[in-house]
Amino acid sequence: MRVGLLTGGGDCPGLNAVIRGVVRKAEREYGDEVIGFLDGYQGLIEDRWMPLDVEACRGLLPRGGTIVGTTRVQPYMFIDGVDRVKATMDRREIEALIVIGGEGTLSAADRLHADGVPVVGVPKTIDNDIGGTEMTFGFDTAVQIATDAIDRLHTTAESHNRVMVVEVMGRHVGHIATWAGIAGGATVTLVPEEPFDIDAVCRSLTRRHARGRFASIVVVAEGARPAEGTLDIPEPGVDEYGHQRLGGIGNVVAHEIEARTGYETRVTVLGHVQRGGTPTAFDRVLSTWYGVAAMEAAHDRDFGTMVALRSGEVVRVRLAECVVQIKYTHPDLLAAMRTFFS
Ligand code: F6P
Repeated sequence: MRVGLLTGGGDCPGLNAVIRGVVRKAEREYGDEVIGFLDGYQGLIEDRWMPLDVEACRGLLPRGGTIVGTTRVQPYMFIDGVDRVKATMDRREIEALIVIGGEGTLSAADRLHADGVPVVGVPKTIDNDIGGTEMTFGFDTAVQIATDAIDRLHTTAESHNRVMVVEVMGRHVGHIATWAGIAGGATVTLVPEEPFDIDAVCRSLTRRHARGRFASIVVVAEGARPAEGTLDIPEPGVDEYGHQRLGGIGNVVAHEIEARTGYETRVTVLGHVQRGGTPTAFDRVLSTWYGVAAMEAAHDRDFGTMVALRSGEVVRVRLAECVVQIKYTHPDLLAAMRTFFS
């Protein structure tokens, strides 16, 4: 059979490893053929693609980004989007479409499946917020990068007796902030799941400093928001797809800490550094496993499914069940994290 694949949404370490897994399984075990649509759904709509074979995937395992490109374009943004998707699929004789993406891309994949397109999903995002799976690939790498940064900030914070605010990604959920905050020994971590009270943050820092510690790390997820009526923050702008452009809450928090406590405070916004570069060993393995499993599902014509990590194994789950609700940070982990707040 001939299979199409695409990568959609923000890029993520491990995308190329998934592509490599799909292609290897297709070519070497099934004798199937794979093509990669360029720039996400945009290439599918516009019939732009590249052939993918084992040779084209050489050296891909450790490589960040995606060789087929990605955008946030979706078929449902256009009146004739779905018809154009189907026309490309017919023209190219594609019998299965593997969609590698996050919340927005997979929701569109679910709608496409309902509209008769044979789809298999693969959950991607550094934010780790896709329902139905314990882990998305890319998350482990982002946590490692954020933890390394926090480790480095500790020593400079201690040398100068400063508070260091570190803003990490996580637009709806605080998985990266929570894991990196715990791993990096943060004094306080702020997540989107729990609106924060800046006074409580400052009290925490003051208590710690009163005990003779003069340096602190505060981790802030980009989607963290103050409790209503406690602090005014600027409204985020939106990109051309109506997607909120986050980033900046770390500056607000740092400014308030310095103004309210008098402690010298600096801010580091990690931003896209968390998404670039080579995946960790864990993400290489998970991406490879997802890629191989997605190709198996496609070959079995088990459409409308998503591959997912559950209890240590990769299984198929219904895509529709995964896109109804994003996955929040486990409340027990948030509680464990709070044990270390001063
Ligand atoms: O969805 C993953 C993510 O990395 C978010 O954490 C972040 O808010 C967003 O992508 C950034 O997107 P962009 O690359 O469009 O700025």
